[in-house]
Amino acid sequence: MKKDWWKKSVVYQIYPKSFKDSNGDGFGDIVGIIEKLDYLKKLGVDILWITPMYVSPQNDNGYDIANYYEIDPKFGTMENFETLLKKAHEKGIKIIMDMVVNHTSTEHEWFKKALENKNSKYHNYYIWKENKGKIPNNWASKFGGSAWEYIEKLDEYYLHLFDINQADLNWENNELREEIYKMMRFWLDKGIDGFRLDVVNLLSKDSSFKDDTYEKVNDDGRKYYTDGPKIHEYLQEMNREVFSKYEDIITVGEMSSTNIENSIKYTNEERKELNMVFNFHHLKVDYLNGDKWSLMEYNFKELRDILFSWQEGMQAGQGWSALFWSNHDQPRNISRFGNTKEYFNESGKTLGTAIHLMRGTPYIYQGEEIGMENPDFDSIEMYRDIESLNNYKILLEKGLTEKQVLEILKNKSRDNARTPIQWNGEKNAGFSNKEPWIPVGKNYKNINIENALREKASIFYHYKKLIKLRKEYDVISHGSFKKIYENQEGIFAYERIYSSEELLVVCNFSIEEKEIVIEDKFLKDGKVLISTYGDIFIEKKLKLKPFESFAYLIK
Ligand code: GLC
Repeated sequence: MKKDWWKKSVVYQIYPKSFKDSNGDGFGDIVGIIEKLDYLKKLGVDILWITPMYVSPQNDNGYDIANYYEIDPKFGTMENFETLLKKAHEKGIKIIMDMVVNHTSTEHEWFKKALENKNSKYHNYYIWKENKGKIPNNWASKFGGSAWEYIEKLDEYYLHLFDINQADLNWENNELREEIYKMMRFWLDKGIDGFRLDVVNLLSKDSSFKDDTYEKVNDDGRKYYTDGPKIHEYLQEMNREVFSKYEDIITVGEMSSTNIENSIKYTNEERKELNMVFNFHHLKVDYLNGDKWSLMEYNFKELRDILFSWQEGMQAGQGWSALFWSNHDQPRNISRFGNTKEYFNESGKTLGTAIHLMRGTPYIYQGEEIGMENPDFDSIEMYRDIESLNNYKILLEKGLTEKQVLEILKNKSRDNARTPIQWNGEKNAGFSNKEPWIPVGKNYKNINIENALREKASIFYHYKKLIKLRKEYDVISHGSFKKIYENQEGIFAYERIYSSEELLVVCNFSIEEKEIVIEDKFLKDGKVLISTYGDIFIEKKLKLKPFESFAYLIK
């Protein structure tokens, strides 16, 4: 295999709990994924990233791991997992596991032993501060409240950057790091094809544990642990001890609040850290003053400028990005940036084109390929997500009305992405024959995979084509990036160049018609690779319909 094979690949993210239930308990499982491998093969994706399926109390849907070495019975057995791996490989599909090593569940054996006494070696697997009459510092948990929890028996506080049930691991401890590497090798020895590493740029905490200032947005402690002092050292060690021992694996880091400079370091091949990274700056363009729990129309210019500055920055430093609109933590992209009422198909396709043809490796979140929308839950009882439930309380305490809070959740909750996959128009959308763990989206009779497969002009076939084009044209997988038309409101456009091939990608992100002037060099015989509305004739003054997009190749 070529050493950068993953540049020609597309990754599909599976949130197993909501993908397909095979045994009628209302909860998606591994056998359900096996049942749907042919569907994934038809779409044409190369790699599946499956969110955590290890033993877990599921307080944060598996991101709270209690045993790294076993599959949670809710999802099935190790044997089921091995069968999945085998069957996927037979179809030429790779599987990467989600790996959470910033924290464990407080139900992990290590934490339980750490609680027993301060002299246990496991105590030093976590981050503790003695009680000096007040909490150790003012850092905030990302899920609301303080990042410290007091344990009376030890008269100490432990750090949890996420929920109280997710205790941060002490990466300063050599023995802990070795345990983690051993465990990662266990999964790779089983034959998995790599890892998506959860919040991995938070591993190294600044030893000062200073208070933050709370003067500006994000002054909540994150500057003391985001891309922390030893993070590159740890990732290089992880690469040496784990990744370098296996061929053709792929590693992608989820990088919370990172910057371009560090992301280049994480992914520049010569540094031997990771293959690619996710960053989230483009998904904060509808946060009012940086606050997720607010309502604001997204700002198109900001969205485009952020994405393009990352494209340019990563290219200049020879870094590599994961390209994506959505995942299990984000509202549905079509509800957020598209127009579901008048231009459902068109906006779904244009969003896909915009992301897939940039420089990087594209990720599709389950259901995105058929335009699944936010479910518009109208009562708090319909929500399951711990972050949403915590913030529901916090916002009410701040004085917002119930109605206001529910409106915010409808737009911002992570549960927007977590409703069951709509397979067909039958009971429970064909996800399960029992009531699912979280309600099904109301529109499943129209928007479902069965309909999408039947309809030749569906978003599904557009995504299928985008995946295929990446395989056929090196200009998509390996070309350089250059932004164009950046002064035109609503237009998201760029050129890609690779030896003699030049690709022009133009997307209208608005519901207005737009006119652009095509550069002379493109006014020669070329080929439209993909478009929203079918045929498009490339001429000097080109009119674009609402949410129209196309990619045009000249040689
Ligand atoms: C990542 C995961 C998210 C989880 C958090 C804590 O951001 O994507 O779902 O809650 O890490 O592990």
